[in-house]
Amino acid sequence: MSTHIEAKKGEIAETVLLPGDPMRAKWIAETFLETPRCYNDVRGMLGYTGTYNGKRVSVQGTGMGIPSALIYCHELINDYGVKNLIRVGSTGSCHKDIKIRDIVIAMAASSTSGINNSRFINADYSPTANFELFMKAVFYAKENNIPIKAGNVLSTDEFYEDDFNNYKIWADFGVLCVEMETAGVYTIAAKYKVKALSILTVSDSLVTKERTSADDRETSFSTMVEIALNTI
Ligand code: ADE
Repeated sequence: MSTHIEAKKGEIAETVLLPGDPMRAKWIAETFLETPRCYNDVRGMLGYTGTYNGKRVSVQGTGMGIPSALIYCHELINDYGVKNLIRVGSTGSCHKDIKIRDIVIAMAASSTSGINNSRFINADYSPTANFELFMKAVFYAKENNIPIKAGNVLSTDEFYEDDFNNYKIWADFGVLCVEMETAGVYTIAAKYKVKALSILTVSDSLVTKERTSADDRETSFSTMVEIALNTI
């Protein structure tokens, strides 16, 4: 086992879907995978391995925010040999062209997090999606007539900002939506030379203040998971 994951070596697949919410990990495993088996319950951060169309795949909750996601990604890569990290999460639209229930594939992730800022000594690093995973996800969506948007997203450290209008400057520069993990996942994947992609569904809008209903969230979450599972 590693510090935060109690799986034995070999119990985690090379490709792992990463929802923030551990209950989403359980739901994805039980809804989409054949013979899912739980390998982790440390801190309630559930992880499962099963198969999808005959391919072995795992689903691991990451918790919220870059620091928590980095713990799980670090251990998945370094202790369990994971090669493909696919975040599946929710996001808030910050751009007038992005509506609730839209699916956004993150080509790159800007961030308010200090982690890369101190690592690169105040210079800007651009955390970027793996091109191969990105193209596979885009092709699957196009072939199956699933509308998607793609572009720059913002990984923020704060869900509740002092000033909710802070998003406007990002939208002015083309950032589509706000979430809390992608910049960390893309950066650690680059560091350890593995592949990463982040697929997001829009659960709320900072522009219109709308929120999706629980039913809406389940439907759009299912479509996002379908894209992710067909990207592996
Ligand atoms: N995830 C979903 N909605 C979000 C928001 N508005 N801000 C940050 N992360 C989010």
